[in-house]
Amino acid sequence: MDYIAECETLKNKALEQLETVADDITLAAFFAEFLAKKGSISSLMNHMREIAPTDKAAFGAAVNGARKIVDEAYQEKKAAIEAKKLDQKLAAEAIDITLPGRKEPIGKKNPYYEVIDEVTSIFLTMGYEVAEGRDVETDLFNFELLNVPKDHPSRDMQDTFYIEGDDDLLLRTQTSAAQAHAMLEKNPKGPIKLICPGKAYRRDDDDMTHSHQFAQIEGLVIDKNISMAHLKATLELFAKKMFGEKREIRLRSSYFPFTEPSVEVDVSCFNCGGKGCAMCKGTGWIEILGAGMVNPKVLKACGYDPDEWTGFAFGVGVERVAMLRYGIDDIRRFYANDIRFLEPFAGK
Ligand code: PHE
Repeated sequence: MDYIAECETLKNKALEQLETVADDITLAAFFAEFLAKKGSISSLMNHMREIAPTDKAAFGAAVNGARKIVDEAYQEKKAAIEAKKLDQKLAAEAIDITLPGRKEPIGKKNPYYEVIDEVTSIFLTMGYEVAEGRDVETDLFNFELLNVPKDHPSRDMQDTFYIEGDDDLLLRTQTSAAQAHAMLEKNPKGPIKLICPGKAYRRDDDDMTHSHQFAQIEGLVIDKNISMAHLKATLELFAKKMFGEKREIRLRSSYFPFTEPSVEVDVSCFNCGGKGCAMCKGTGWIEILGAGMVNPKVLKACGYDPDEWTGFAFGVGVERVAMLRYGIDDIRRFYANDIRFLEPFAGK
């Protein structure tokens, strides 16, 4: 039998069959059939014994040559299959950069902070300092030093959250707590001119106009010869800057334990200009804050001699101002951070 011719035939058969190989699985089968140790090309060597001694070298060379050619063709095919697989993978994972992007909503400043920032900057331009204050207060600063002793009936107006297990620690019910800190900490005693924007807490049932947590901006001015006229002029300027040049204010007599006399301050309606509308409930006026001359008892308790020093204080309700100004109907909207609510305030 002519094994050299058979070797040639086998080589051609292998090359022909390789043409039809198109994937990993048939490629592996091809390798097993022709090129593996027990594959048909290597197995040709088993016939060596039957070959005449003079032909052995030529036979060996023919087998090795055939194996080399088939192996090269196999390697080429293997690379081609790899390349094809990579192309397919890239195509499958392709990113279509022509797809329009998804629009992410951009955060907006809550109107509640707009109001705090605006009020703060108005008073900064009038030379006020900003005091930080603290949310957790002692009974002493929130009530006692502000002329509200333990059994004082006005405590009922400000139902308080106490810190559990401590009758003396509470969440401040008013930013007025900052007044006593400012006066006591001023050493030596001298003029004070500050605002304290911050949160306050009361045990109110939440509804459209009440929230157990809300924000106030406290103002305090202490100096010699400070009078009610200074208070009125200050608040008038504030109202004009905040609500418009045409605004006027009026003071109505009121009661706060830490001021004497005390007033409630109305601003002429910025919606109707004072003619009367739904916003001002037909009165032409909108109440925006409480104020008064610092009670001499408070001055004294905080180390200021009331014969020498006088002062005024005021407290603005932030949410109330923001609700009126932006026509917001429900106080709870400020805290929900619903983007649909915040969106319309963009850029205002
Ligand atoms: N603390 C008062 C309140 O919360 C407001 C106020 C502040 C009144 C300062 C007078 C002076 O109702």
